[in-house]
Amino acid sequence: MQVTVLGASGRTGFHVARLLAAKGHTVRAGLRSRRRAEVLQDLDVQPVVADVTADPEDLVEAFRGSEVVISAIGAPDPEPASVNLVDRDGAATAIRAAEKAGVARYVQLSAQFADSPDQGDRLVRSILLAKQISDIALQKSALTWTIVRPGTLTDGPATGRVKVAGHLEPGRITRQDVAAVLVGVLQEPLTENQGFDVVSGEFPVGSALAALG
Ligand SMILES: NC(=O)c1ccc[n+]([C@@H]2O[C@H](COP(=O)([O-])OP(=O)(O)OC[C@H]3O[C@@H](n4cnc5c(N)ncnc54)[C@H](OP(=O)(O)O)[C@@H]3O)[C@@H](O)[C@H]2O)c1
Repeated sequence: MQVTVLGASGRTGFHVARLLAAKGHTVRAGLRSRRRAEVLQDLDVQPVVADVTADPEDLVEAFRGSEVVISAIGAPDPEPASVNLVDRDGAATAIRAAEKAGVARYVQLSAQFADSPDQGDRLVRSILLAKQISDIALQKSALTWTIVRPGTLTDGPATGRVKVAGHLEPGRITRQDVAAVLVGVLQEPLTENQGFDVVSGEFPVGSALAALG
């Protein structure tokens, strides 16, 4: 299957691209800029420029031929102006471009509490609100969607063990485990048109996802 990963140069997106390639998928690794292609040099992926703040038609071309888009983008700066540009408006532009390109399934990396964003300090609030708006845009789209809302991200190794549910107490999870969930949903029909929280836990990713619903 051909999959485009948005934000493939990112700390989570890189592992998404790596896991997809290891499973034998054709991976188009979306980059904000070609300058970041070196990050992916050891992976069997096709780098493609996919800047969610640039011309939407370029995104349509980047997505064409892919059955699935997995978005792991995040604003480079936590200030609201940057977050709104990338996580809110850019994410919504990417969703519309995916529809136009004939993509069937869209998996979005969101954040725990994006569905109840009225909390935290000024910056947290603005990030959660931006995510809530783009998550709603995805739910309203013609795409088969999955929204993954992880707790606080850490850079530890993969544990392969997670906890998933509609809503969970605040928690932490490694970026590698989040990547495994973003890829794992493609094999679990119960995750279609679903949004759920994920934190580190006791269950292997496949069985945790199979218990949803
Ligand atoms: N930090 C947390 O505790 C936490 C918790 C829950 C959810 N999240 C969310 O998880 C997501 C991934 O986090 P992360 O730490 O893996 O992020 P990251 O390492 O900062 O990666 C973000 C990716 O987005 C790309 N990007 C930025 N602007 C873009 C644009 N205009 N067009 C296309 N791509 C663009 C970046 O490209 P460059 O490499 O070129 O910069 C990078 O590849 C974020 O959305 C974040 O909000 C974070």
